[in-house]
Amino acid sequence: MEKVILRCRELSKSYKTPSGEKCIIDGINLDVKENEFVVLFGPGQCGKTTMINLLSGLEPPSSGTVELNGQLVTGPGPDKGVIYQTIALFPWLTTMQNVEYGPKVRGMPKKQRRERAQHFIDLVGLQGFEHVYPIKLSGGMKQRVGIARVYCNDPFILFMDEPFGALDAQTRYMMQEELGRISRQEKRTVVFVTNNIEEALYLADRIIVMENCPSKIKEEYVIPLPHPRDYMDPEFLRLRKEISASHG
Ligand SMILES: Nc1ncnc2c1ncn2[C@@H]1O[C@H](COP(=O)(O)OP(=O)(O)OP(=O)(O)O)[C@@H](O)[C@H]1O
Ligand SMILES: [Mg+2]
Repeated sequence: MEKVILRCRELSKSYKTPSGEKCIIDGINLDVKENEFVVLFGPGQCGKTTMINLLSGLEPPSSGTVELNGQLVTGPGPDKGVIYQTIALFPWLTTMQNVEYGPKVRGMPKKQRRERAQHFIDLVGLQGFEHVYPIKLSGGMKQRVGIARVYCNDPFILFMDEPFGALDAQTRYMMQEELGRISRQEKRTVVFVTNNIEEALYLADRIIVMENCPSKIKEEYVIPLPHPRDYMDPEFLRLRKEISASHG
């Protein structure tokens, strides 16, 4: 039986607003297995980012629990990698320096961390751009640096909050294909957020459909299609139609 890595139970989050307490996440139970690629799919403002913040320990829940590998999550840390929609690279550091940043602050010797960073720079297809500063990189390339950086940190689990949401359609497709390839090569447990059904279907082992705010889990779909997937495959299109029709 596959091991459960991330487990949340009765997870809820409310915020105090001028008009009273507002419930955003309402009693979510979720298990994510080792090396599973889970996509949280839901409409705008349904609480997807809030979920990522709770799962990664950036924010405490109002009630309920999140456990990572049997340990209660009480805060963020290098074991939990997060990639955001607008990536925050250090503008004063080159590609190499951005990617090796995590191992560097943890004291990994230079030769070792350079080799490690180079492996991930190659993996995301940025060889030749090691000594370039972020200002010289396109949006897609910056996301590649962001992906290399988070993998280089060797997190136990990866959270990705609409990482391709700010890219143009063409680049977005390309990055979906790249991430598919990368995550097959470097197996990790991933929780990926999107409001784009094609993107969800392209990447997911399992899609969790979130209901509108306050968010609960509305439905889930195991996606058995082999990788790399074909956006035009009849079964892909059928699933896309089925999920969009029920949750469009
Ligand atoms: N710190 C906060 N205080 C009060 N309300 C908040 C806070 N953070 C989020 N919210 C509210 O929670 C709801 C869900 O926000 P969240 O950002 O989690 O949604 P989302 O699904 O990620 O949205 P989007 O699709 O725009 O990224 C929104 O109505 C938002 O205003
Ligand atoms: Mg969001």
